Amino acid sequence: MYEENPEVIWWNGRLAPWGEATVHVTSEVATRGTNVFEGLRAYWQSESERHGVVHLERHLSRLGRSARLIRFPAAATAEHIDQLRTGVVELVRALGPGSDYYLRPTVFIEQGRYGWRPDEVRLGSYIAGYRADPTPMHPMTCVVSTWRRTPDASISPLVKVGAAYQAFRLPRIEAAMHGADEAILLNSQDTVAETGGAAIFIVRDATVVTPPLADGVLDSITRRTVIELLRERPDTHVVERSIPRSELYAADEAFLCGTLDEIRAVASIDGVALRWPTGPVTSGVRTSYLSRCRGVEKSGDREFLHFVDHVA
Ligand SMILES: Cc1ncc(COP(=O)(O)O)c(C=O)c1O
Repeated sequence: MYEENPEVIWWNGRLAPWGEATVHVTSEVATRGTNVFEGLRAYWQSESERHGVVHLERHLSRLGRSARLIRFPAAATAEHIDQLRTGVVELVRALGPGSDYYLRPTVFIEQGRYGWRPDEVRLGSYIAGYRADPTPMHPMTCVVSTWRRTPDASISPLVKVGAAYQAFRLPRIEAAMHGADEAILLNSQDTVAETGGAAIFIVRDATVVTPPLADGVLDSITRRTVIELLRERPDTHVVERSIPRSELYAADEAFLCGTLDEIRAVASIDGVALRWPTGPVTSGVRTSYLSRCRGVEKSGDREFLHFVDHVA
C-alpha cells in the first residue's frame, strides 16, 4: 500500500502536490513522533458510483480525544479537525472514483518541545490517502508477544499518538521472526489486549468475547461496529470481559478487526490450531461488515457511511 506515493496530499488546509508536505528533521513531530492520527477507509460503492467513508465522525471525534489526552492546544486542534473534515472529501475526490482508499488524517506539533500552551506550539495537519488493496482472505497465524501493551499509566492505549506505535515495533518483528503474520499483546495484568492495529474477538460455544477497554485496548471503531453486529445476531451472545492467555488456545474461532484489517480470521496462535480456521461467526461478521462498507447491505446506523459524490 505504501510503496507508491500518490501525486496529491491534503496539507494544512488544501490539496497540494505530494512533495510539498514537508517538515524539518528537527521538528517536534520528527523528533518525538508528536502527532495524533486516524486511519479511515473510503469504499467505492459500485451501485451508486460514489465513495462511502466509514464512520467519518467517530474517527474525527477520536482524533480530538487523542489530541485532548495528550494536551494539544484545544482551539487550534478543533480548527484543524474542522479542516480535516472538508479535507477528507476533497482528497477522496482528487484521488478519483473507482478505487478504495485508506486515509490518514493527522494533526502534529511542528514546533515547541513538549509544549502545550497555545503560544508554545505550532500545529500542522495533513491527510495522506493511499489506494487500499483488498485485505487478504487467508486466515492469519498469530503469536502471543513477549512484549506488553503500554499501560494507561505511561502512554494510554486510548491515545493514537504516533510515538506510542514504537511499542508495536518489537512485537511485529518478533512475530515475523517466528514466521507468524501478527503479534497479540497481553497487558501488564497478563490478560489479552490487542494487536498493534486490531481488536481481538474469540468465540466459544456461540459466546463471543472481547477484552474491555480497561484491559488496555484502543477504543476501536470497528470493534464497536462488530459488537453492534453481533448483538443483532439471535444465535450469538457477545461479552466484554478479560481473556486469560490460555483461553486463546481453547477458542473455537478467533478474529481480528480494525479499519485496515477489516475482519480477519485467526487460524492458529503460538502454533496451536483453533477448531475452525475461519468459523461461522467470523465469516458471518465479515460478510455483514463488508457488505455494509460497500453499501450493499444497509446499516441501521445512519452515520455508518459518509458519502462522497464525484462530479462527472
Ligand atoms: C492499536 C490499535 N488497535 C486497534 C485498532 C483498530 O481500530 P479501528 O477499528 O478504529 O481502526 C487500531 C487501528 O487504528 C490500532 O492502532
